[in-house]
Amino acid sequence: MIIDSKKIEGKKLIDLINPKDKNILEIGCGQGRQAFLLAPLSSKYIAIDTNKKSILTAKNKLTKELEKKLEFSIANGENIPYPKDNFDTVLMILCFHEISVQKQGLVLQEINRVLKKNGQLIIIDPTQPANQVQSIFNIVYNNFQYFDHSVVVKHSIWSLKKAISNRLFKLKRKSQYKIDWKFNNLKELVDFVINCSSEISWNKNKISFLEKELTKLIKIKDKNNSLTIWDGLTVNDLINLK
Ligand SMILES: C[S@@+](CC[C@H](N)C(=O)[O-])C[C@H]1O[C@@H](n2cnc3c(N)ncnc32)[C@H](O)[C@@H]1O
Repeated sequence: MIIDSKKIEGKKLIDLINPKDKNILEIGCGQGRQAFLLAPLSSKYIAIDTNKKSILTAKNKLTKELEKKLEFSIANGENIPYPKDNFDTVLMILCFHEISVQKQGLVLQEINRVLKKNGQLIIIDPTQPANQVQSIFNIVYNNFQYFDHSVVVKHSIWSLKKAISNRLFKLKRKSQYKIDWKFNNLKELVDFVINCSSEISWNKNKISFLEKELTKLIKIKDKNNSLTIWDGLTVNDLINLK
């Protein structure tokens, strides 16, 4: 699977953050998709995630040279294990909307604590109204978890608005971009959806149901053909207030 085959997101992040001489924290880094691009350009880059497997995979990709700048660690955005006023930039890509509705406010308070005054917070989440990627995840949510993905995304927008009105952050700029996610075949897409929904106990029946629903939704004629799925993302570029 290749996400962002045209490297649109990477270029956008470098423009937004200007990483030179910056001490950066990424929350929900996954396997380090953007950490490996941004860390060499920054002064220090700490990338955390609650998923042990993803952090292990990311650590295994680290080179001796990069180890001086890039550190992967298992940690939760709800309790960031770093002192106050420590980072110039905090980055969250496709992670904030995944944090439980009850915990989003707490994560924003933690970010406010570890960011320096006037530091930068970048939150990138799916654009509303729902796009094709959200329709894919709605197959999972509607059938196995019984909630609507767009409701979760809408709540994260509300949590962010609340933090702005409580003067934790000031919104500097909002922008949108599109990226493409490429999969070599249907199986790669199915595996990707399953990996992103590790809280579900997947079995043969559920996997074959998912495969059938995806075939209908994306109108797949041959499951061995490659697929491209467009995703719309919204960037919230915020200034930390103290
Ligand atoms: C959809 S993935 C995005 C990964 C990566 N940012 C990317 O764009 O490829 C969301 C990630 O956020 C992580 N995550 C969710 N809640 C978290 C939390 N409270 N603290 C840290 N990481 C979290 C998940 O484990 C997962 O790796």
